[in-house]
Amino acid sequence: MVYFHSVKVGLFMAWLAAFLCVCLAAPLDQDNLSETCSDIHLSGFSLEATCCGGSSNQEFKNELDLNLCIGIDYNKDALQWGIYGKLSLYCTNCTLEKTPEPGNFLECACRSLGNTVSSVSTLRLDDGIKNINGSLTCMGGGAVVHPLK
Ligand SMILES: *[C@@H]1O[C@H](CO)[C@@H](O)[C@H](O)[C@H]1NC(C)=O
Ligand SMILES: *[C@@H]1O[C@H](CO)[C@@H](O)[C@H](O)[C@H]1NC(C)=O
Ligand SMILES: *[C@@H]1O[C@H](CO)[C@@H](O)[C@H](O)[C@H]1NC(C)=O
Repeated sequence: MVYFHSVKVGLFMAWLAAFLCVCLAAPLDQDNLSETCSDIHLSGFSLEATCCGGSSNQEFKNELDLNLCIGIDYNKDALQWGIYGKLSLYCTNCTLEKTPEPGNFLECACRSLGNTVSSVSTLRLDDGIKNINGSLTCMGGGAVVHPLK
């Protein structure tokens, strides 16, 4: 029950933040992508989002090149975390998927070089991308960040 309640509160707060486009005083989990960022979408192979943080808890516009931290497992042709993984070499048709599970999931069709058939796989972005004081980071790679007035 307690778990369920906190999930509901978390989803409500995320919805509220997305809807009102404001930073919450105390998000449940300060570095959590889904809970502290709004307007999360893809632009090519970059993840764009407006994220809260910093000493005055303001909004920052982020552009994180996913090539910096996502590549593929060559045996399964599946998305996986990897420093400078360069997914754009292997993957097409990437989208952000809304699944019944909370969080943001990347879905792409990928194939290793020399393979003719692509496999569709998903990766939960919350597991590898963190909001550090309003800036998204991923396996040491950082986003291009602009404060919002
Ligand atoms: C984030 O901001 C806080 C307070 O402004 C500061 O103490 C902390 O060092 C910052 N963290 C990073 C990783 O920059
Ligand atoms: C990408 O999407 C297009 C349009 O839906 C589809 O025709 C194509 O087969 C997809 N490519 C791969 C590699 O899945
Ligand atoms: C981030 O928040 C989402 C949505 O509330 C949750 O599903 C996910 O487990 C959290 N991720 C981490 C790494 O805490």
